[in-house]
Amino acid sequence: MKVAGSVRVPGDKSITHRVLLFGALTRGTSHIGGALTSLDARSTARVLRQLGAELSPLRPGVPVTVQGKGKLRRPDGPLFCGNSGTTARLLLGLLSAHRFTATLTGDRSLRRRPMRRVTVPLASMGARFTERDGDGLPLTVRGDRLRPLRYEMPVSSAQIKSAILLAGMAGEVDVALREPHGRSRDHTERLLRAFGYGVAEENGWIHFTPGGHLEPFDVQVPGDPSSAAFLVGAATLAEAGELLISAVGVNPTRTGFLDVLGRMGAAVQLENQGDRFGEPVGDLVVRPASLRGTEVAAGEIPGLIDEIPLLAALASRASGTTTFRQVGELRVKESDRLGLIAENLRAVGAEAEVVGDDLVVEGSDRVPRGKVRTAADHRLAMAFAVLGSVPGARIAIDDMSCAAVSFPGFSETLRTISPRARAASGARSRA
Ligand code: S3P
Repeated sequence: MKVAGSVRVPGDKSITHRVLLFGALTRGTSHIGGALTSLDARSTARVLRQLGAELSPLRPGVPVTVQGKGKLRRPDGPLFCGNSGTTARLLLGLLSAHRFTATLTGDRSLRRRPMRRVTVPLASMGARFTERDGDGLPLTVRGDRLRPLRYEMPVSSAQIKSAILLAGMAGEVDVALREPHGRSRDHTERLLRAFGYGVAEENGWIHFTPGGHLEPFDVQVPGDPSSAAFLVGAATLAEAGELLISAVGVNPTRTGFLDVLGRMGAAVQLENQGDRFGEPVGDLVVRPASLRGTEVAAGEIPGLIDEIPLLAALASRASGTTTFRQVGELRVKESDRLGLIAENLRAVGAEAEVVGDDLVVEGSDRVPRGKVRTAADHRLAMAFAVLGSVPGARIAIDDMSCAAVSFPGFSETLRTISPRARAASGARSRA
């Protein structure tokens, strides 16, 4: 199988959510180029409209205009966040500083995801929450005047960190936060700094101080490194050729997967580095390579949390063992990703095991064949579609349509870069 071409990936999901939220809070019109238009991004746009902002429709290739009113308004009905944990958790932070009541809910996957990790610290700042079914959505928030917070987070998570920082911004109070292992993505911190808020880092603590001012902005969202990762994986598994992925976000809190792939022997070069609104971007040039197993340490996990399904799929093609340490957080992603990565790798003939909170994958050159159950988790579907691109593979994926949560057009893009992927990702997908 040969890989070829030059592609762009859709806009960064994390940055798109954040710039839409910031745009909705400014007074005036912001223009967002390159925004992600996936289902998750549309969930954020939809709830922001319910909260009084005016947003143009999210269409590929068309800049989004966001007309904010300075504050959010009481919504008429429940805020449906779809599959998007980022939408739900970041909004809970913002709504904590707005004095009205709002109820958030989501799809089946999102309703089972834990929310106390944000509501506990937000409640200690002064917001009130009413749970309907225990630790999850639906959840009603009533915002209030907030108190400053100093908080040691129980898990490293950009969603928890951002919810609290956004509460600090909207409520104009100081916040100090510490993450336990490694650093999660810092897009919120970069945006806050761009608007003049104080965000200082010292001895592992992030100190936020109010005093900034949101103004309408024009921004170009970089390509999503988490989407690019799947194409990097496909190009690495190819037998020949070269793939260029242009204008990808390469914020160091997002590129942990490139460090791990480098250790595994992958051939990825970063070229044409630049900067967009405080976010580093660059082109990735990928050539096929033989991989070897590695150990991924607990401190590296927050920097590649969304790439573990792909890395695990690649590890099943490497020589030797790959161990991902302390990846229990994967149990509360869009699916129980930890269990499903191992189960599906075994289903296609690979060896994988969950040992405590570690994931251990044995590499081999056995041709992967079998049926994959995604539980509608976009990243599982895409990781196994990439594995299905190896010569001779026959992998039937129960649901490829869920890729649209973060990467609209994924299957077509994979087919464009590696014609052999046609059988794998196109085969038994259910629309
Ligand atoms: C995200 C943070 C991550 C990631 C998710 C997006 C964000 O979650 O898994 O896809 O935009 O803040 P955690 O930081 O909660 O692990």
